[in-house]
Amino acid sequence: MPIRWDAETREAHLHNDRVSYILRVLDTGWLAHLHFGRRLDPSRTYGHLGPQGAGAFRNRPADPALLEYPVAERGDFRAPACVVEQADGSTVLDLVYAGHRIRRGKPALPGLPATYAETDDEAETVEVDLADGPSGLTVTLAYSIFRDVPCVARNARFRNDGATMLRVRCAMSASLDLPDDGWDMVQLSGAWARERHVVTRPLAPGRVSISSARGASGAEHNPFVILKRPSTTEEAGEAYGLSLVYSGDFLAEAEGDSFGTARVRIGIDPANFTWTLEPGAEIVLPEAVLAYTTDGLGGLSDAYHRLYRERLVRGRWRDAPRPVLVNNWEGTYFDFDEDRLVAMASVARDVGIELFVLDDGWFGERDDDDSSLGDWTVDRRKLPNGLDGLARRIQGLGMSLGLWIEPEMVSPRSRLFAAHPEWAIGVPGRPRTEIRNQLVLDMSRAEVVDHLFAALSDVLGSAPISYVKWDMNRNMTEAYSGALPPDRQGEFRHRYILGVYDLYARLTAAFPHILFESCASGGGRFDPGMLAYAPQTWTSDDTDAVERLAIQWGTSLVYPLSSIGAHVSAVPNHQVGRVTSLTMRAAVAFFGVFGYELDTTTFTDEERREVADQVAFYVAHRDVLQRGRFVRLRSPFEGDGNETVWMAVSDDRRRAVVGAYRVLDRPYAGPVRLPLRGLDPDAVYRVTAWPAGTTPHGEPEGGLRGGDDLMATGVVVRPGPFDPRPHGDFQALVLALDAVEDVAAG
Ligand code: DGJ
Repeated sequence: MPIRWDAETREAHLHNDRVSYILRVLDTGWLAHLHFGRRLDPSRTYGHLGPQGAGAFRNRPADPALLEYPVAERGDFRAPACVVEQADGSTVLDLVYAGHRIRRGKPALPGLPATYAETDDEAETVEVDLADGPSGLTVTLAYSIFRDVPCVARNARFRNDGATMLRVRCAMSASLDLPDDGWDMVQLSGAWARERHVVTRPLAPGRVSISSARGASGAEHNPFVILKRPSTTEEAGEAYGLSLVYSGDFLAEAEGDSFGTARVRIGIDPANFTWTLEPGAEIVLPEAVLAYTTDGLGGLSDAYHRLYRERLVRGRWRDAPRPVLVNNWEGTYFDFDEDRLVAMASVARDVGIELFVLDDGWFGERDDDDSSLGDWTVDRRKLPNGLDGLARRIQGLGMSLGLWIEPEMVSPRSRLFAAHPEWAIGVPGRPRTEIRNQLVLDMSRAEVVDHLFAALSDVLGSAPISYVKWDMNRNMTEAYSGALPPDRQGEFRHRYILGVYDLYARLTAAFPHILFESCASGGGRFDPGMLAYAPQTWTSDDTDAVERLAIQWGTSLVYPLSSIGAHVSAVPNHQVGRVTSLTMRAAVAFFGVFGYELDTTTFTDEERREVADQVAFYVAHRDVLQRGRFVRLRSPFEGDGNETVWMAVSDDRRRAVVGAYRVLDRPYAGPVRLPLRGLDPDAVYRVTAWPAGTTPHGEPEGGLRGGDDLMATGVVVRPGPFDPRPHGDFQALVLALDAVEDVAAG
């Protein structure tokens, strides 16, 4: 069994063949953390790793002891995992062991997204109850260890078993103490149009944190941190990951203390959160997924990619190939009608694109972003035959139709707002801040969620729609619900997200054939919570190929290729004005869920041929590019960032696609050869360059090379000064590697 509870030592040892997670109930009843990391022999006990009961620790759970779920006010002066205010106004807690249960599989979290086990032998779960006698608070910590990935999923639930009201002021999903502070913290930070850039800084005494107060996980920071050794590379070395399966305000914080230990905690940001527990009431906190590897950042990503792709995403699109799409947004913005859309779709069909997505502007009277959000009825001026009429014409071309919605918002100029101004969040008597001319609906109200479910069910049931892009284009201000009493306003932000999850759950259940893609002005809510409902996410509004190298690299640290929406758009690029070749744009967008974001009717004949070739290449390699192992070879965040190289490899290592990119040309610079990784050293691969005829200097056209050779000597990713290939800025090289069965036949 992967969880062993030693009744004598009261030690719990969770293990698979890669990692061990060990905790222990001390004589005092406090829960100590002994180890999370390399697998240790589960038949032994590890009390020597915990506090020995010497000195001050006998009386108080003090620093620098490693603690499992630390409380405040009891002598541990580091950041606590929880703070609970009691009827007398105090926040002192003494959480002591009160019992535990071990169960096969992994229970679902009510109302919250979470990873899952498909069969009971894929995971095992231990729940440990900790009780505080005077207040009546019971905290249940749950730990699930997965059989096949080096990950432990944690969550906490708080229950009031006492007779008086409790107010939860801080409730982390996980707190992890490490015995030393020799770590770098890696975070994914940025802003709109430059999301999830990799930022690395060494831990030092004191706290460093990232958080969101936006009502969404946000473009500024992702709910994910890594602690890695300074020497850890992509290929080797220790790294921990903490990823929060949540889409609202979060806090991720690392603390180096004066004794040289480290604490990292992750959960709902306590800054704007309180939760009242009446006697008998309970709150379940979001799941945190912890991973550990000695195989470097690449090994950490492998773990998250597999778990999130296979046991977080659900539904029939989980394993299905995702269609190549064209989205009309940058092609038309709000200026379209049925004939224009069908003309775009018709060209798209001719070049092999499979799905036509109609973006913003099809409903109400929305000719710009100043009106109609909330009025989910088709605009007959633009679509006289309704969505059904459009869908039938698209289907007639052999494609399917996708549709944009933004359920959580309302325009002040809309019929919905006129009928229900109280459904928009805000403080009565104060002006509401408009962002992009819109307000946020109060998703904490059941009647709002019910209304949206009915209205959107009508839309999605009115036509054969196979894909939905669920957008969310502004963050929260005046986060206040008229439906909640004053002393419950601290619950609003979490209740909002629970409402979003409820709507997602109901719509995905009602329309299981629809592929959902989440979006928040691009990647402003790219988080694991969303992936539980929408298998893919619009990664960024920035489709510039150069910027996308950084965005997609950073995103890939935790999120799998199958979740990363990546499109080719027109040049000059609408976000940065940069002009890159069609080849460069496609070569970057290949590594994700591929599509286009432009007006296909503007293609020249040459561009049509190029795009048809791109789509054909992607479709031929779709399984590798969507579900393959992503191997990062050269980072845009290292050195001058001029070169990026990555590759995707099929699970059986028979097929791979390499992408190598150079931002600026360098005069008279030498060639760069880079060893590949993740191939089968015993296989022989046919190396084919895309587009045809771009084989790097020194590579035999369509030539055969051994996996050992490719991983030892590598391929030329940057041409030298005498390379016959054209020089210039923004160059891409794509190589397809296919293992040949019969080398002699070659
Ligand atoms: C923001 C999204 O990221 C874009 O792709 C587009 O859908 C617009 N919203 C539409 O308003």
